[in-house]
Amino acid sequence: MKVGIIGGGQLAQMLAQAGQTTDMSSLAMDFAFVAPEKDACAAAYGKHFVYPYLEPKAKEALENWSDVVTYEFESIPVALVQELEKVKPVHPSSKALTLASDRLNEKNMFNQQGIETARFATVNSLEDLQKAVVEVGLPAILKTRRDGYDGKGQVVLRDESELVAAWDSLAPVACILESMVNFKREVSIVASRNVAGEIAYYPLAENYHREGILRLSLSLQHDPKQQEAQDIIRKVMEDVGYVGTMAVELFDLGDKFAANELSPRVHNSGHWSMDGAIASQFKNHLLAITNQPLQDTSIQNATAMVNLIGGIPDKKAVARIPGAVLYDYGKEPKPGRKVGHINICADGDNDENFVPNIIKVLGMVNQQDLIAELLKSSFYK
Ligand SMILES: Nc1ncnc2c1ncn2[C@@H]1O[C@H](COP(=O)(O)OP(=O)(O)O)[C@@H](O)[C@H]1O
Ligand SMILES: [Mg+2]
Repeated sequence: MKVGIIGGGQLAQMLAQAGQTTDMSSLAMDFAFVAPEKDACAAAYGKHFVYPYLEPKAKEALENWSDVVTYEFESIPVALVQELEKVKPVHPSSKALTLASDRLNEKNMFNQQGIETARFATVNSLEDLQKAVVEVGLPAILKTRRDGYDGKGQVVLRDESELVAAWDSLAPVACILESMVNFKREVSIVASRNVAGEIAYYPLAENYHREGILRLSLSLQHDPKQQEAQDIIRKVMEDVGYVGTMAVELFDLGDKFAANELSPRVHNSGHWSMDGAIASQFKNHLLAITNQPLQDTSIQNATAMVNLIGGIPDKKAVARIPGAVLYDYGKEPKPGRKVGHINICADGDNDENFVPNIIKVLGMVNQQDLIAELLKSSFYK
């Protein structure tokens, strides 16, 4: 089975790694990546076609090479997916991509499904922003509708005096203004749906961000809101006829969830599943898009995932922490860039060293205030 992937970053890399494990060998998967970067970190795991996404050769390469096409991120031209799906199975579909690559489409869809979101308004000019602030209230976040990730393309607004500077920093692109949600915690639900419509749901992850970037995810066993989150992602998946792994980020407001955004792909908050779940989100994505039965998503050991932003800590020191597994994506370190992650697994249900081990890793990546937050949280008590 030849799997063509649009994008050549770490998500494409981990998809290929999952497809090349011995227990997936019956599917005999080969991988090719179309990505404009010559040094794409997935390239070592398959064939690499170095083309800009909108160059006709990008489509041609995927069409000629692949049995099935997928993508690793949503900032790709919808037109490429639309053209490809005329001639090849492409999962997730262009319909899913159209929804998920635009924050306005996404929020409208959630609301149409009866799923709550933050209050929001569209902003295409400074005048719109002034009106939107009246509608939505302050504090609020101005976000570009497209191409935002890791908190990029976002400005927090706390005072009316900040509007002009905020608009100037993002203009002239289409934006939305969202009210700032005072959530109790952030969680995400990851699930995979195959062509036949079977859905496998992962246990919720609790997520901690700093500077708009995910820093820590904790797998949650038997969370009381698991079913409520599953109902949300099921509605979205079934409405779109979605195929593949998807994540929905949720703000827990206490009495209910508000949906933040959806990702039509494997998701950073699901990386814990590589070591913590019986089958990872990457395996289930590949099984879903090739219409195989999905595998067991349940937790085999509680797992925390810590992102490595801007650099890799001393690997020998990490190796001395029991249950810690370091993934180095092989990317050139740059400030703010995700270059790897560490999964920290508990040894059984009553591992007294689990939280201290997470804290050691957070110390290695200089997340002292996250340590304080984790110690205050009721989660592992
Ligand atoms: N409306 C909001 N209210 C409160 N926090 C928010 C809101 N929108 C975003 N955030 C915070 O910023 C993070 C990143 O924003 P998000 O919209 O998920 O963008 P990205 O595409 O960069 O992940 C969120 O996970 C959350 O911590
Ligand atoms: Mg997000």
